[in-house]
Amino acid sequence: MDRCSGFAGLVPFGALWLLGFASIMVPRAQGWSKEGHIMTCRIAQALLEPEAGEAVENLLPHYVKGDLSALCVWPDQIRHWYRYRWTSSLHFIDTPDNACSFDYSRDCHDPHGLEDMCVAGAIQNFTSQLSHYREGTSDRRYNMTEALLFLSHFMGDIHQPMHVGFTTDEGGNTVNLRWFRHKSNLHHVWDREILLTALADYYNKDLDLLLQDIEGNFTDGIWSDDVSSWRHCDDLASCINKYAVESIDIACKWGYKGVDPGETLADDYFNSRMPILMKRIAQGGVRLAMILNRVLGDSEEGFATPT
Ligand SMILES: *[C@@H]1O[C@H](CO)[C@@H](O)[C@H](O)[C@H]1NC(C)=O
Ligand SMILES: *[C@@H]1O[C@H](CO)[C@@H](O)[C@H](O)[C@H]1NC(C)=O
Ligand SMILES: *[C@@H]1O[C@H](CO)[C@@H](O)[C@H](O)[C@H]1NC(C)=O
Ligand SMILES: [Zn+2]
Repeated sequence: MDRCSGFAGLVPFGALWLLGFASIMVPRAQGWSKEGHIMTCRIAQALLEPEAGEAVENLLPHYVKGDLSALCVWPDQIRHWYRYRWTSSLHFIDTPDNACSFDYSRDCHDPHGLEDMCVAGAIQNFTSQLSHYREGTSDRRYNMTEALLFLSHFMGDIHQPMHVGFTTDEGGNTVNLRWFRHKSNLHHVWDREILLTALADYYNKDLDLLLQDIEGNFTDGIWSDDVSSWRHCDDLASCINKYAVESIDIACKWGYKGVDPGETLADDYFNSRMPILMKRIAQGGVRLAMILNRVLGDSEEGFATPT
């Protein structure tokens, strides 16, 4: 049973999915919009080596037909369920206001001070759980499907700059403003608005077209020289810390900078931030693939993870 391939739980899983959609009132940072998570996961899945690709397919419930991106938003949908309440602080990191830095031991905890309960700790946790899957030594307490979905989702979240934001404004959630003509907030601008505006203005609202453009830019375009450094990772814990540091750095330089509560953000903000956001989505996807290839593939050695 440690491979969980029997999958008796299809109905409850489907029900979670539906109920997730019904819960629109979410009090805290949601993470990338649905679209952001879908993009990250589709980029990643296309970069999987055969062994890792097969493992991912085996871990997914049959009804998604092998499509990881179909369940990459699942952790956002269940986070307020009683059973999954322990996951709600795993989507982000609160850093000290205006410090513009991330320090794992200072910042990675939940609001009650419980250590490791932040997005950086969660990525380590679920990577470590998954790393036992291919040896068939998974701990029965852990559900490998859930570990895959959590890891895939949180790799998206940690790359969303405002998910490593300031504590008092909840990563920009309480910075109310306007996005062009409608009400929004700074967190939401980075979660969703920039991406949706880009889709509408340049990609005919077609996620596939955007995906092709992003993939073209890292295979043979503006980012092709950078991809190997994005993917480079010797020690998982320090790589994850680096992703969080990159996010708070961007949050300070491009997210918060020059933004006053109540103001209207429009073309200038959109045009200058869109390329940054697209790069974060690409990085999240490339790095998720790197981790999955390392822990589920057969070619490279995995990470040295504490058990
Ligand atoms: C793993 O988790 C999924 C989603 O919560 C659930 O549907 C499935 O039944 C679980 N598998 C096992 C073996 O417990
Ligand atoms: C790691 O996952 C287990 C359940 O799979 C959970 O009980 C624990 O709180 C998680 N810790 C972190 C830091 O994500
Ligand atoms: C891809 O690169 C081109 C420049 O070559 C740029 O115009 C376009 O916005 C980029 N697309 C994305 C999604 O980053
Ligand atoms: Zn999230």
